[in-house]
Amino acid sequence: MAANFDRIARAYRWMEYLSFGPMLKRCRFYRLGDAAKRRHALVIGDGDGRFLARLLRENKQLTAEAVDSSRAMLQLLEKRAAGAGQRLAVRCTDARAFSPSGRYDLVATHFFLDCLTTEETAALTERIRPHLLSGAMWIVSDFAIPPGLAALPARVIVSVLYAAFGVLTGLEIQRLPRHGDVLRAAGFSLDDRKEWLGGLLFSESWIFIGPANGSTRSQGNRSEADGLPLKNDRSFHFKRG
Ligand SMILES: C[S@@+](CC[C@H](N)C(=O)[O-])C[C@H]1O[C@@H](n2cnc3c(N)ncnc32)[C@H](O)[C@@H]1O
Repeated sequence: MAANFDRIARAYRWMEYLSFGPMLKRCRFYRLGDAAKRRHALVIGDGDGRFLARLLRENKQLTAEAVDSSRAMLQLLEKRAAGAGQRLAVRCTDARAFSPSGRYDLVATHFFLDCLTTEETAALTERIRPHLLSGAMWIVSDFAIPPGLAALPARVIVSVLYAAFGVLTGLEIQRLPRHGDVLRAAGFSLDDRKEWLGGLLFSESWIFIGPANGSTRSQGNRSEADGLPLKNDRSFHFKRG
């Protein structure tokens, strides 16, 4: 069963501000400019809808599908994005069982993939992939364990977060998925990565360049701080400026 975020849906925003101040918000909205050029979005686990409501407001051409297993979160999202009318469709379902039906040029997952295992992330990506338009962008915001000295405090913070969400929502996951391995194997190329708090938080944009090796199954534990570019990933570059 998916974790149940209903109980904390209303408090979620305040819990976020109390723990990380404006940092998650900064991370979540960082790529709004890029997303504004897109037309069909699939947004999974958007919670109370702060990202999607703003995206729909700023991009009047956009249609969007919001997937979340929490009815209470989706109700907040619908309220917040009410102005979008028919441009927004919501699906209250477990993403691990969700079968997309649309065609998308944007996928956004902000602080959601950390609710899945690497295998579940791979299975979800595999189901989404046939529905992606060429050049589709996947925006990922999440936590990471950076390399070096920052690893220890990051590890402690991530463990505390998992413990808290375990108690509050029943989330059983306890480690971050290797989403970078999954997306690369699925034919995505990392276009840009921005980090905050010494690498504890990141925002990435991945571009779908086609069916890579045909398998999104994970490829072993190549990088502990998953999402960091692998040394031989020639598709990787940091955006300048
Ligand atoms: C940590 S919150 C993130 C909310 C928001 N995206 C943000 O940026 O803060 C995770 C969200 O994913 C949803 N979620 C967790 N597991 C899920 C699953 N298996 N299927 C669908 N939604 C899920 C929760 O209901 C919640 O809305």
